[in-house]
Amino acid sequence: MKSIVIQKPNELVIEERPLPAPAAGDVRVKIKLAGICGSDSHIYRGHNPFAKYPRVIGHEFFGVIDAVGEGVDASRLGQRVSVDPVISCGHCYPCSVGKPNVCTSLVVLGVHRDGGFSEYAVVPAKNAWHIPDAIEDKHAVMVEPFTIAANVTGHAQPTEHDVALIYGAGPMGLVTVQALKGVYRVKQVIVVDRIEERLTMAQRSGADWVINNAEQSLQAVLDEKGIKPTLIIDAACHPSILQEAITLASPAARIVLMGFSSEPSQIVQQGITGKELSIFSTRLNANKFPVVIDWLEKGLIDPEKLVTHTFDYHHVTDAIELFEKDQRQCCKVLLTFGQ
Ligand code: NAI
Ligand code: MN
Ligand code: ZN
Repeated sequence: MKSIVIQKPNELVIEERPLPAPAAGDVRVKIKLAGICGSDSHIYRGHNPFAKYPRVIGHEFFGVIDAVGEGVDASRLGQRVSVDPVISCGHCYPCSVGKPNVCTSLVVLGVHRDGGFSEYAVVPAKNAWHIPDAIEDKHAVMVEPFTIAANVTGHAQPTEHDVALIYGAGPMGLVTVQALKGVYRVKQVIVVDRIEERLTMAQRSGADWVINNAEQSLQAVLDEKGIKPTLIIDAACHPSILQEAITLASPAARIVLMGFSSEPSQIVQQGITGKELSIFSTRLNANKFPVVIDWLEKGLIDPEKLVTHTFDYHHVTDAIELFEKDQRQCCKVLLTFGQ
């Protein structure tokens, strides 16, 4: 089989590897589609502190089960599946409180272990989630990015009465917009970004109001309308955003952080306690695959609004370079395998 391997930072090869046999409890998935994410590019460029090389990247992938290991029901052969990249131990403290996404021995496919940018991938059977026939392939490959939004909303518990502010109209901001509008019917969803084309995409995903903070001060725009957001989600992840969010938030608001910056954020505690704000953080997803599959079945979200490009996997280098260089035209870029 062919696999996309990052040999070391900045060295990507499409390598011939032996077809792996599934071990006990595993299934082998013949990959059909995979999505490129910022973290794939970070591993490629050597900017992911968790990555070990060589590595088959890719943690957003969909395909068909073509072999099962010992102990896995043969009825799963031929099943269409999306793969949850989060592998956890099941018994540590975080696992015991429903947070396998921060398991003390967390393994993420495509980061710590070989992932889905390959003609075949072997994964634990319980990570391969059956996709009902009514959900198209090009939607099924987008389950993982939407699980990030499901994890955000699992913490924030949005209601129809919220006034939500989302920083960033990249893929993560857009999945969040779709969840807030499509699933939770949030009254007003405001999106702020510096790139006009991305704000247009946010509107297509359901944002009620978009603000370009390259041209104007976000605070001035919100103050002028007397808006105090009750839910703020940082999907832009600059360290300076947390203090701005604390300042802009309504009393009793919730703030959700998604960033991994190693730079400090300077914040004033009085701004948090004075308004009794709740600040959540979110990482990957905690058992959210069935949640998103349900959203897709009910037609509450539309992943196609995020997909701007599709490449055959042989052109993966072009695909990643375009994804990295063109934030105006690019959002989600998909790779096709064996089509
Ligand atoms: P992206 O880089 O495509 O999008 C970020 C957007 O934020 C860009 O459109 C950019 O113009 C905008 N932006 C940057 N600074 C801004 C500011 N000060 N004000 C307004 N807009 C600003 O990234 P993507 O893929 O959407 O991911 C967003 C962030 O989420 C990344 O930092 C990534 O590391 C993080 N992330 C976190 C996950 C988690 O589980 N916690 C999962 C996936 C991504
Ligand atoms: Mn991703
Ligand atoms: Zn664990």
